[in-house]
Amino acid sequence: MVKASAPGKCILFGEHAVVYGQPAVACSINQRIIVELEEETKFDSWRLDGAILNLSKHPHIRFLRDNLWPEGQNPPLKIRIRGTLPPASGLGSSAALSVALVAALQQLRQEELNPGIAGSLSHQAEAFAQGGRASPIDTTTSALGGFIVLSDTIERSLNHIGERTLQNQDDSTTWQLHSFESKIPEDTYLVIGNTGIRGSTSKQVSKVAALLSEEPERQVEIEAIGSIARKGIKALRTGNMELVGKAMTENHIVLRSLGVSSPELERLIKAAAPSSLGVKLTGSGGGGCMIALTKDPERTVGAIEMEGGRAFISPFNTPGVRIETLSSQDNSRQ
Ligand code: MEV
Repeated sequence: MVKASAPGKCILFGEHAVVYGQPAVACSINQRIIVELEEETKFDSWRLDGAILNLSKHPHIRFLRDNLWPEGQNPPLKIRIRGTLPPASGLGSSAALSVALVAALQQLRQEELNPGIAGSLSHQAEAFAQGGRASPIDTTTSALGGFIVLSDTIERSLNHIGERTLQNQDDSTTWQLHSFESKIPEDTYLVIGNTGIRGSTSKQVSKVAALLSEEPERQVEIEAIGSIARKGIKALRTGNMELVGKAMTENHIVLRSLGVSSPELERLIKAAAPSSLGVKLTGSGGGGCMIALTKDPERTVGAIEMEGGRAFISPFNTPGVRIETLSSQDNSRQ
């Protein structure tokens, strides 16, 4: 058996606009997805958590299986997925699943863990699953951990770590990937509040695409998110948390105007705001999660939970994809 894990992420600035090349920044969080793989010896088809793997429900797994473990050439596998990252909540659970699955398949192929390849293959899997539109922000952050910035140009003030291109039917998009060290003070935390309502990234991404095609002048809102993200990244690098918080709240107002918030997200955001430096939805919206930057995390968690949300505190700078060592319990299950 092999076992790998990868973290979820939250987007601090720039979701949705990043699909159109604007800068965005995400950071890894302390909730992870764990993937265990083992050869299937009893049945001649792949299994997921004990049941036959339904490939139409799991396009990411289909893409990665076809690319790394093609049928006919390899024995079927048993996949077991565990972890603390809620699905369809804007925290990058499908990206973390893809990244951890690539790492586990790399191990089964007796290759060294390669987070760069895990990130790029997982991005292609996300694009396949989202009908061709997906930025590499979730997959890169999950693979590498820490703070990741995407932009359509090389940002000279950041560490440039590579680029990703996505070829669609009639166009292609290239994102430049960067990392940076943040000077976030130790007394500042991220609180993540979950509405418990599942959102669909592909639906939300299509909703924004439809809005922009019906009302092309709304492109200014996409550009506004880009300039807020630049301001926010600068403030994160210099450790100016008041400015980071202000930019987060501004970013949320534009996302709300694009139609990707929801009444439930708005309730949690309103509850968290008085104890926070800044609040916004995170990820694709429509449900899922909001984030708050706060120096009083217990109070912020309490306020979110009073409104019916589930909340947790995440530190910054949590590690990216890794191979997990097998415990004696894992070994006895084999
Ligand atoms: C999803 O976490 C973030 C979006 O910007 C989609 C993407 O970047 O592919 C909404």
